[in-house]
Amino acid sequence: MTDRQLASKTRKIESLPMHLLKHGKVYLLPVYYMAKLSRVGSELALNQGSAEYQDLVYRNQPEGRLIVGKIFDKYLLNFPTAKGCRSRLAATQEVLKQLIDSSTAKDIVLLDLGCGYARGLIGTLAGIKDRHITAYGMDLDEKAIEVASARAQEKGLTNLTFSVGDALNLGDYPVQSADIVILNGLAQYLSSDGRMQLYHNVHSLLDENGYLLTDYFCDWAKNPVQKWWKGISEDFLGVKLDWLGKEAVEEMFSRLPFRDVKTWYSQGNFCLMVLAKK
Ligand SMILES: C[S@@+](CC[C@H](N)C(=O)[O-])C[C@H]1O[C@@H](n2cnc3c(N)ncnc32)[C@H](O)[C@@H]1O
Repeated sequence: MTDRQLASKTRKIESLPMHLLKHGKVYLLPVYYMAKLSRVGSELALNQGSAEYQDLVYRNQPEGRLIVGKIFDKYLLNFPTAKGCRSRLAATQEVLKQLIDSSTAKDIVLLDLGCGYARGLIGTLAGIKDRHITAYGMDLDEKAIEVASARAQEKGLTNLTFSVGDALNLGDYPVQSADIVILNGLAQYLSSDGRMQLYHNVHSLLDENGYLLTDYFCDWAKNPVQKWWKGISEDFLGVKLDWLGKEAVEEMFSRLPFRDVKTWYSQGNFCLMVLAKK
């Protein structure tokens, strides 16, 4: 990992059990140890928002130690946040394919920022044989770049390269221009200023008539149990995000130089998809 901090790494508390004991929240210790038995729960507790967490959610196969670990894993994989991530992946792949199909460019350049293990990019490109595409994925997490590169190689995708870099630093980007930029699961972790800087970066990089395909994760906690979990994740995993709704996201994009901004909810209504044209 580089010294630069992952925007998605929200947890600031060193030892969760010590923190719970110190703050008289002993009743939460069993929840912590149950989460540790689950594969998704362990990754959430350690690295909320990581590429690995994201990939476990996409894989959607309960794992974990003992039966209780697997049951808890299944519970977490059915959580609104997990369903939202899977529906975002499906929406991204569908729209990316449409954008590629309708593009008139001879060589289409794609850039996926904060690509994680690049499941969406790899899945989409593996299914397209008749277009000339040059694709790049960039993430600040070195392990994510290693895994994504290995997976692309396994699929024989020679037109796809990955590099380590900070999405907030235009100088790290592997290309100077692109037809389509994909940015998933990152914006909601940034401060309002950081987010605007990132969108401006993308705008300056896009070719005329190029597209930004992105998402904004909306407030998912609707019932009391979900609100309780949300409180837990805010208190202990530091997931205190700007939970923007559709109108706020549209207002944010109205302050950016994009045009033809389209927003729609992916299946289940947890994730707001955004397609914006330069
Ligand atoms: C929630 S994951 C989403 C991964 C992928 N985009 C997807 O939709 O499956 C967030 C990703 O952003 C990456 N990330 C966090 N901060 C970053 C930064 N400043 N620059 C580039 N990548 C970053 C993390 O390493 C992680 O892979």
